[in-house]
Amino acid sequence: YHVVHIAAEMAPVAKVGGLGDVVTGLGRALQKKGHLVEIILPKYDCMDYSRIKNLKVLDVELYSYFDGQTHKNKIWLGIVEGLPVYFIEPHHPAKFFWRGQFYGENDDFKRFTYFCRAALEFLLQSGKKPDMIHTHDWQTAAVAPLYWDIYVSQGLDSARLAFTCHNFEYQGVDAPGALASCGLNVQQLHRPDRMQDNFVHDRVNLLKGGIVFSNVVTTVSPTYAQEVRAPEGGRGLHLTLAQHSKKFLGVLNGIDNESWNPATDPLLEFQFSADDLSGKYANKAALRTRLGLAPSEGDDDRPLVGCITRLVPQKGVHLIRHAIYRTLECGGQFILLGSSPVPSIQREFEGIARDFDQHPHIRLVLKYDEALSHSIYAASDMFVIPSIFEPCGLTQMIAMRYGSIPVVRKTGGLNDSVFDADDSSYPEEKKNGFTFSAANEGGLNFALDRAMAYYRTNRQWWRNLVTRAMKMDYSWDHSADEYIDLYRQCLERSKTKL
Ligand code: ADP
Ligand code: GLC
Repeated sequence: YHVVHIAAEMAPVAKVGGLGDVVTGLGRALQKKGHLVEIILPKYDCMDYSRIKNLKVLDVELYSYFDGQTHKNKIWLGIVEGLPVYFIEPHHPAKFFWRGQFYGENDDFKRFTYFCRAALEFLLQSGKKPDMIHTHDWQTAAVAPLYWDIYVSQGLDSARLAFTCHNFEYQGVDAPGALASCGLNVQQLHRPDRMQDNFVHDRVNLLKGGIVFSNVVTTVSPTYAQEVRAPEGGRGLHLTLAQHSKKFLGVLNGIDNESWNPATDPLLEFQFSADDLSGKYANKAALRTRLGLAPSEGDDDRPLVGCITRLVPQKGVHLIRHAIYRTLECGGQFILLGSSPVPSIQREFEGIARDFDQHPHIRLVLKYDEALSHSIYAASDMFVIPSIFEPCGLTQMIAMRYGSIPVVRKTGGLNDSVFDADDSSYPEEKKNGFTFSAANEGGLNFALDRAMAYYRTNRQWWRNLVTRAMKMDYSWDHSADEYIDLYRQCLERSKTKL
């Protein structure tokens, strides 16, 4: 198939969280299976341009509509991780993608609806005839209504639409008039069965539009697909999902096994594999030295606990804070790598970082740092993810691939990928971590204390668990097949009907 992903993130050039990993990982997996995959992204000023190969501006003049006028765009083509990527650079006075950050601007709704319209205009004018247009999250959800309303009649009609919701917390909600900017018909769309917000009726909701107007809608794990069908998880959109339940399902994300491979990872000081963990321990010693933590003594009875995360309420920030203190109480070491878009949370963690300044067992690094993230996955013995909700979560999969045992709350994709070592209902070969259910300190202690006890009292057992977790398959291979199957089902259905 010819698949075009339209997205707001792509690792490693424009990554805020897991969405970026998924666009690259799924794209590469589809490409490996012989499909033609192209990506369309905004041309952000703050991308990591060093990771784009052969970037060149195309000799096309692309005019796209916005706010009653047409605006010129430059189109750039480059290769990211082997995938062809078209970058759209608007010549609009608002300088939509010239803001020094990917999201978090007051006019995000405008910035991304502009991008959706320009991306479709590019597909039309370049004469591409994709089989599937696959969009992600609210930022690119407007592609779906725009496609049917405006582009099919102009001849861009070869495609079916797939839409993946990575998080129902962010929906892209604004006053109805905001839809008109990109040329959508507000009167037709501001209706309960279309894009009217289910809670605030004088608002429109882009995520809802993506669900209503796409041929197939996925979210990123089977458990989260269940959770969002209920009011708390779906945040209003459970009502819409109920109406569209036949085309909605959960497909568990994978990770890119080449980008995340401890045996070849160039960002690690010492490479290692499940068959020889000595490099893992060397990374641990090196990271302790680098961050000024106390070195190991004797049997290395102080397990190193890692946590790498956006510090937002979804991730259970109060439980992350508690995990730091609990690890210390239990005689472990803790490294947190994270940053927060929420100033009060960032300040709180800066306070904790100051309290533990120079501490021999605790280190907080409050920034985004890809290279350091690889070192922490490799060096840590355990990895804490106490999320309140987690659509999929990739860090547990990366941690396991690097031999760090996940200690997680049983929710969303964590529930579909981490299986408690003490739960006798799982076969031995499936067990790969420690889980808890109650979203409170007692819940976290229940799982973390058990992990610590096993580490201390039965190191051979622990090593076997590490080896087993490392050998499990978290790759995209299987899930990419599920997507191909979904694409096939859509394409077999009638062309212009949803
Ligand atoms: P989410 O998308 O909700 O943030 P995921 O677990 O799906 O959560 O993906 C998070 C991704 O972002 C992982 O690849 C993780 O390594 C990375 N990441 C998160 N915080 C940081 C950070 N401070 N520095 C480097 N990488 C980070
Ligand atoms: C979102 C979710 C995360 C998921 C990621 C990729 O950011 O918060 O759980 O892994 O998208 O799908």
